[in-house]
Amino acid sequence: MAMYNYLRMIYFSYMFRAKRILVTSALPYANGPLHIGHLAGAYISADIYVRFMRLCGKDVLYIGGSDEHGAAITIKALKENRKPQDIVDQYHAEFKEAFSKMRISFDIYHRTSEKIHHETSQDFFKELYKNDEFQEIESEQYYDTEANQFLADRYIVGTCPNCKNEEAYGDQCENCGSSLSPTELINPKSTISGSQPTLRKTKHWYLSLDKYEEWLKDYIEKGILDGKEHHNPSDWKNHVIGQCKSWLDGGLRPRSMTRDLDWGVDVPKEIPGSEGKKLYVWMDAPIGYISATKQWAIDNDKDWEPYWKDEKTALIHFIGKDNIVFHCLTFPAILKAHGNYILPQNVPANQFLNLEGRKISTSKNWAVWVNDYLKDLEGKEDELRYHMIKIMPEQRDSEFTWKGFQESVNNELVNNLANFTNRVIVLTHKYYDGVVPAFDENQGISSCHDKDELSFHDSELISLFDGLAEMGDNVRKFDFRAALSAFMTVSSQGNQLLQFNEPWKHVKDDPELVKVVINIGMQYVAAISIACRPFLPKTSDKLRSLLQLDPITENGEWDTMMNILAEGEELLIPNGHKIGDASHLFSRIDDEVIQTQIDKLMASSQTDKEVKSPIKTTVQFDDFTKLDIRTATITAAELHPNADKLLKLTVDLGFETRTVVSGIAKFYSPDDIIGKKVSLLANLAPRKIRGIESNGMILMAEDDEGQLAFVSPENGMMNGAVVR
Ligand code: 2FM
Ligand code: ZN
Repeated sequence: MAMYNYLRMIYFSYMFRAKRILVTSALPYANGPLHIGHLAGAYISADIYVRFMRLCGKDVLYIGGSDEHGAAITIKALKENRKPQDIVDQYHAEFKEAFSKMRISFDIYHRTSEKIHHETSQDFFKELYKNDEFQEIESEQYYDTEANQFLADRYIVGTCPNCKNEEAYGDQCENCGSSLSPTELINPKSTISGSQPTLRKTKHWYLSLDKYEEWLKDYIEKGILDGKEHHNPSDWKNHVIGQCKSWLDGGLRPRSMTRDLDWGVDVPKEIPGSEGKKLYVWMDAPIGYISATKQWAIDNDKDWEPYWKDEKTALIHFIGKDNIVFHCLTFPAILKAHGNYILPQNVPANQFLNLEGRKISTSKNWAVWVNDYLKDLEGKEDELRYHMIKIMPEQRDSEFTWKGFQESVNNELVNNLANFTNRVIVLTHKYYDGVVPAFDENQGISSCHDKDELSFHDSELISLFDGLAEMGDNVRKFDFRAALSAFMTVSSQGNQLLQFNEPWKHVKDDPELVKVVINIGMQYVAAISIACRPFLPKTSDKLRSLLQLDPITENGEWDTMMNILAEGEELLIPNGHKIGDASHLFSRIDDEVIQTQIDKLMASSQTDKEVKSPIKTTVQFDDFTKLDIRTATITAAELHPNADKLLKLTVDLGFETRTVVSGIAKFYSPDDIIGKKVSLLANLAPRKIRGIESNGMILMAEDDEGQLAFVSPENGMMNGAVVR
C-alpha cells in the first residue's frame, strides 16, 4: 500500500500544541431544572470538544458543577418556605443525574456549597484585599424591612420615570429601554414582600475594573497578555469579542464584589466590617472551577496547580452568551488581581436556543426539561445530542422544534448513518459469514496521486481521511455544526460507495470487486465508530460492540486512526476479523410521539396565554384612521450617545428621510438592521429622547418575555406605502 506521508505532514502540523487542556462548562444555578437551552449553551459543545481532544491523546481535564449561591436561590427558598440548602441539594442531585444520562463527561461535577469552595473563594478575596485591589464604597440601597434584607436591583419594581410604565425593574425599564438605578423608580416595591423598601446605608468592596481596562483591551482585542502574544483573537467568535468590546468601549467601572445576603460565601472574618456580608455570586462562581479542580486533584491523587498556573495549559470556558462579560472581563481581572493564574485561551460562548418560536422560559414553563425528555424518550440521548449539535446556536440564536428533531432523527440518523452501517454489517454477514474479507490490493488501480499508484481501496481511504480531517479541523475551531456535517458526509460517502458499486449485483460476476467494496465499507464503519464518539458517545459504544472491536477509551484513538489511514500500512478493522450480529443503531420516531410532546408543551403553558396582554378596550374605526402608519427602510443606525438601550435610526419613507429614536439596542446591533423594512407610526408628535428629536415610532411586536421583532412588510413593498 502507498505511504501518504504528505498527508501526515500536512495534517499533523495543525495539531493543537498546548500541553494540557482545562475545559469548563458554566456552573448552572441550582434553582430550577435543566432544560435543552442549557444543554445547547455550554454542555454538549464542551463535551464534544473534550472527547475529541482526549481522542487526540491530549491531557484534558473537564470541570463542571452547580452554582449554589446568589439572590435567586434565596428568593426561591423564601417563596417556597424552604431552606436554600434544601433547594440546592435537590437541583444539584437532579443536574448530576441528567448530565450523566446525557453522557456529559465531566471529570468532576462539583458544587459551590462545599467547604473547599468557600475556603478557596475566601482565600481569593483575602489575596485581593491584601493586594489593595478593592475600593470600599458606601452607598444607599433599598432594604425590605419585612423580609429583613437588602434588595438586588431586579427584585425592585416601580414606575419608570421616563415612560411611566408601572412595571419597570430596578435596573431597567423594558418598555422604553432606559437603564435605571433602583432609586430612580417612582413608588418602588419589593418583589419579595410587596412592601415599600426603605433606603439604608451599606458598605461594599468594589473591584477596580477600570484599572484593568487597557490590560483587558489588549487581551480581548489583540490577544496580548502583559506584552506577550497569548492567543489569536481571530480564533474567537465575533459575537464574543463584539460583546466585550461594547463593554470596554462603554468604559469599565468598579464593580461590587460583595452583597448583603444571608446565603453565600462569607466575606472572610479577618476583614473589618465583614459581618453579614457575602461574596457576590459572580465573584465566587468562576472560582468554583478552581475549587472543583482542587477536589478532583484530591480525589485522584494529582496536582491541581499545573492546570491553573502553567502557561502550557490552554483554559477554555464554554458558556452561554449571558455569561460573556463575567468570563472574558471580570474573571480575568480577578485572576490578574490575584496573580499567578493563567487566562482563558478561548471562550467559545453560544447564543440562545429558542423553542417552537418563543424564548425558553422557566417561569412560563415554555421549555423541554431534560429530565422529562429522558423519561419520555428513554434511550434516545444521542438523538437529542445529534439534533442539538445540528442546530447549535454557535453564531446566532437558533430554534428547536419537535418536527425538526423528528426530521433529524428519521432523515439523517436513521436513513443515513444507521442505514449505512447496517448495510455494511448485513452484507458482511450475508457474503462472508461476518468476517471482514481480504481483497486484491491491485483492484482498480486507476489514478495517480503524488507519483504513487493508488488502488481503489487506497483512494477511498484517502477520501475517508479527508472527511475525518475536515471534521477534526472544525472541532478544533469550535465549529461543531460544521464538524457534525463533515462527519455525516463521511457516512454519506460510504452510502454512495455502496450505491454506486452495487456489490449485491456482482457477487457472481466480480467477486473481487465485492470484497474490496465491503472491505472499504468496513473501514468506513470502523472509522465512524471512533469519529461519532464526540457527538454520539452511546452510539460509539454500540457500534464498537457490533463490530466486536475494543470499546473506545478516549485515549488517543483518533490519532491512531489518522496515522493508520495516512500511512496505509494497516487497516482500521483487519481482514479476517469477525464482527457481531447486525442491529440498527437508530429507529424512526413516529408522528404520535412528536405530537404528544408538542401537546404537552402547549398544555403546560396554556394558562399563561390566557392572562397575558388582554385585548384593550374597543376603539372606533375613525380613531384608528388617525394613525398614519407607513412602510419605511432603515438606512442608517447608530448607538444613542446618551443611552445604552436606545438606537438612533435614519429611516427612508420614499418621499423623505427622518430620524427616529428606538429602544431596541438590547435586541439589535446597528449593523444588523441597516436595510431592514419596517412599519413606522409617521404622525406621532415629535419628542426629544435623551437629547435627540425622534420623529415617529418604529412598530415592534413584543412577546410575553419582552422579546421584540420588527413588523415588516413583505418583500418588495415600496417605502412610504400606507398601512391600514
Ligand atoms: O448563568 C448561570 O447559570 C450561572 N450560574 C453561570 C455561572 S458560570 C461560572 F462562573 F460558574
Ligand atoms: Zn420606561
